[in-house]
Amino acid sequence: PEPGWTTTADVVVVGSGIAGLTAALRLRGHVDKVLVVTKDVLAAGSTQWAQGGIAAALGPEDTPEEHEQDTLVAGAGACDREAVRVLVTEGPDAVRELIALGTVFDHDPDGELSLTREGGHHRDRIAHAGGDATGAEIQRALIAAIERAPEIEVVQHALAVDLLLAEDGGVAGLTLHVMGEGQRDGVGAVLCRAVVLASGGLGQVFSQTTNPAVSTGDGMAVALRAGAVLRDLEFVQFHPTVMYLGADSHGQQPLISEAVRGEGAFLVDFEGHRFMQGVHELADLAPRDVVAKAIMRRMLETGHPHMWLDARHLGREFWERRFPTILATARSHGVDPVSELIPVAPACHYASGGVLTDLWGRSNVPGLYATGEVACSGVHGANRLASNSLLEGLVFSRRIAEVLPGELRDLQPPAPDRRTAGLVAGGVRRDLQEVMTSRVGVLRNATGLDDAARLLDKLAGEVTESVDQESWETTNLLTISSALTSAAAVREETRGSHWREDFPERDDARFAAHLDLVMDAGDC
Ligand code: SIN
Repeated sequence: PEPGWTTTADVVVVGSGIAGLTAALRLRGHVDKVLVVTKDVLAAGSTQWAQGGIAAALGPEDTPEEHEQDTLVAGAGACDREAVRVLVTEGPDAVRELIALGTVFDHDPDGELSLTREGGHHRDRIAHAGGDATGAEIQRALIAAIERAPEIEVVQHALAVDLLLAEDGGVAGLTLHVMGEGQRDGVGAVLCRAVVLASGGLGQVFSQTTNPAVSTGDGMAVALRAGAVLRDLEFVQFHPTVMYLGADSHGQQPLISEAVRGEGAFLVDFEGHRFMQGVHELADLAPRDVVAKAIMRRMLETGHPHMWLDARHLGREFWERRFPTILATARSHGVDPVSELIPVAPACHYASGGVLTDLWGRSNVPGLYATGEVACSGVHGANRLASNSLLEGLVFSRRIAEVLPGELRDLQPPAPDRRTAGLVAGGVRRDLQEVMTSRVGVLRNATGLDDAARLLDKLAGEVTESVDQESWETTNLLTISSALTSAAAVREETRGSHWREDFPERDDARFAAHLDLVMDAGDC
C-alpha cells in the first residue's frame, strides 16, 4: 500500500533489545537524527527473557583465548574465526560499559562479580543479574538510558514492512506499519540514510519456542526481500531444557536456564538414569546441541515426550535466591523444583544464522547494517555457545556505531518498488508452524524437507487482501521458513544444531564445498 505519512531520519534502528538500544545510544551525537522503531513496546523482545547471562572473560583466571576456544568448539567448525576473536577480545570492555550504564549484575559476598558456568564453557564466565533475570536487568538499564536521551526518537508498535531502495540498490528508507493512533497510524515511510536491523530472531517459525511472540523473523524477511544475503539459517538452536507443558502447548514455553545445570542440576530418564554421563566429557554441561540430541535420542528410544531435570538437591533457599524467576514460573505450572523433577524437552531457542554481515555489521546492501540475532556475524557457527548472544549484540552494535557515521549515504529518493508479493493469510500460521516443527525441527531428512518445501509452497498460495500485523508477520514467517528449509536440504551432513538423520556424520569435505552457501531472495 501507498504510505499514508512520511518522515525523515538519518538512521533508523529496527528493534529495541540489547543490540538495537546499544546501537541507538552509541550513534547518538554522531548522526543528526536516530529513530528507534519497535514492533511492540520497548521491552517486548528476547533480551528481556534472557535468563542465564552474558559471557565474557572477566574472571581473574580466564582469558579471551579460552573463551574463543570454547566458542569455536561449540560452533562445530563453522565459526568465522576473526569475528569470534572480535567478540571475545572486545567483550569484557563492552560488559564493563554496560555496568557503567547502570546494569546491576550479581556479586559474591566478597564484592566480586559473580560468574557462573553454562554448557560448553570450561570457565565460570557468565555474568548474571537478579539471579536468573539478567536480560530483564539489562533491558531495564538500557531503557532508562534511552529515557535520558530525548534526542533519540522512539516509535513503538511499529512493524518494519520493507526497505525502500534507491536506484543504486542501497537504502533510501523503510516502510512501517504503525499500530497506533494519531498522526502516525497505519502504513508510512521513513526516508533515511541508513537502517540498522536489530529485530531479533525467528522462533515463532516453530510450534514451541522460548522466544516471545514478537520473534517472527521480520528483519530477516525484510532484508531478504531487499536483496540482502542470509547465511547459516539451517543452524537453528534447540535449547535442551525447556519446560514441557504437554503436546498441545503452543508458542512461547518456559526456559529452564542452562545455569541451573551449571549449578549442579542433572538430567535423568524415566528410570532415574543419568543419561548424559559417558556421552561427553562435560556430561550435563556439554555444548547445547550435544545435550539436545541426547535428550531427543532418549525420548525416541523410550517413547516418552520429555525427560526430567533433577535440581531438588539445590534446596529451597538456593532456588529462591539464585533462580527466583524460574522457580516462580515452574510453580505457576504446577511443578515445584525444590521437591519435584522438572519435565523438559528441547524447543527452538536461537537462530545462529541471519543477515550476513562483515566485522563491522555491514550487509551487502549499501546502508543496511545488522546486529544481534537477526545478523549472521559468524560468531556462532553451527551452534551458539551459551550466553554469547547478548554479548554479540553488544559488541557488534558498538562496532556499527563506530563506522556508520563516516559511511552515511546522502538521502536518496526511493526508486519505484517492483516487488509484487501478496500477503499470506494470518490463518495459516499454525499450519506453517506444524510443518516446520514436524519436518524441519531437531531431526531432519530429505523426505521431510522435500515435504516441507511442498507444503510451504501450498501455504504461500493462501493470500489475503487484509493488510494487518498478523498477515505481515505470517508472510515473513513463510519467507523465512522457505529459506530455512532450502538451506537445511542443501546441507547434507550433521553439524552443530543441524541434525540430518540421512547424513548422520559431520562431513568436512562437503562442508568446505558449501562454505559459501548463502540464501538470497531467489531461494524462497
Ligand atoms: C540459558 O539461560 O540457558 C540460555 C542462555 C543462552 O541462550 O545463551
